[in-house]
Amino acid sequence: MKILAIETSCDETGVAVVEGEKLPDGFSFKVLGAALLSQAELHAPYGGVYPNLAKREHEKNLPLILAQALENASISLSEVDAVAVTQGPGLEPALWTGITFAQQLAREQSKPLIPVNHMEGHLLSSLVEDGKLPQPQMPVLALLVSGGHTEFVLMRDWFEYELVGETLDDAVGEAFDKVARMLELPYPGGPHISRLADEARLKSAPSVATLPRPMLTSKTCDVSFSGLKTAALYALRDLGGAQKLSEEEKAAFAREFEDAVTDVFKAKTRKALEATGARTFVLGGGVAANRYLRERLQQLVLDEFPDVAFRLPELSITGDNAIMIGEAALARILSGKAKLTGELRAAGTLPLTTKSRL
Ligand code: KG4
Ligand code: ZN
Repeated sequence: MKILAIETSCDETGVAVVEGEKLPDGFSFKVLGAALLSQAELHAPYGGVYPNLAKREHEKNLPLILAQALENASISLSEVDAVAVTQGPGLEPALWTGITFAQQLAREQSKPLIPVNHMEGHLLSSLVEDGKLPQPQMPVLALLVSGGHTEFVLMRDWFEYELVGETLDDAVGEAFDKVARMLELPYPGGPHISRLADEARLKSAPSVATLPRPMLTSKTCDVSFSGLKTAALYALRDLGGAQKLSEEEKAAFAREFEDAVTDVFKAKTRKALEATGARTFVLGGGVAANRYLRERLQQLVLDEFPDVAFRLPELSITGDNAIMIGEAALARILSGKAKLTGELRAAGTLPLTTKSRL
């Protein structure tokens, strides 16, 4: 089965053609062709994504990105079996552009339209290895970390998600971006913080600040990053502001921030693994590109939970893309669990988890 998938929940315009098959123990996927356009540079002057600009750019670029994806896949629209699109969560004006576009294509081609939850896309695609999504050892504990979300999700069976813990305020990606902005680094700041922090570790740069590890010892698996963000602001003010820092000092500051975030995720992952008895752990979402976080969590599982399978997404699909939307849609449709609808509405706060927290 071949799916045309469309992603426009934030500032990436993505289209992909993915072919999928059901295997006795999972699914196999083949990306026939994909195209992705990031608007990050356009939003950079605003220090974040500007929804109406995102909408305008998606509208302008969708036809071009579609043509490019189809050309890369050497396929025509009439050859795909269904159209999948991100329904939410995300920025509603941005989501609507993808939905309207997908709906029109599906109607013109008389194909079914499949709504996909963006976070399910991050989660399931992070479990794909060498084009296969094998039946994981259940339950799976997923830590989903992106610009808009930060949550521990337990998957006891395919497509059944339970909330284990979440951020009480800011998403971790947002915190990375805000602290990067304080350090006068370009948007999106996560990769810049990460690069500087790595440099500081390599050079053993002396410490310039100490930041808190919020909620480290709290009983739940919830996290919080707004206090850390404010602490970073005050610490930087005490240092005289970003302009007063040398490159090495900026790097040391970035390292301290990344250390604080990683310490929190290590402690909460330990707690969540103990509480759920999960057999597989997977990291997903844009912040899953963070090298230090990937390594530290892998080490934690290896050292303390040797029976838990540890999974990471390929770096090429950690950020928003349409491949993950196509894979999630295929997993659902091949399992008879896709919601095929004619009329689709954007859902900015579409939840992934249905059951209450542990
Ligand atoms: O999943 P994603 O592409 O978009 C959303 O659904 O939000 O996540 C984007 C977030 C941004 O906040 C970006 O700064 C962050 O992921 N990010 C990183 C890294 N690469 C991207 N954060 C930390 N370290 C990275 N290497
Ligand atoms: Zn995302």
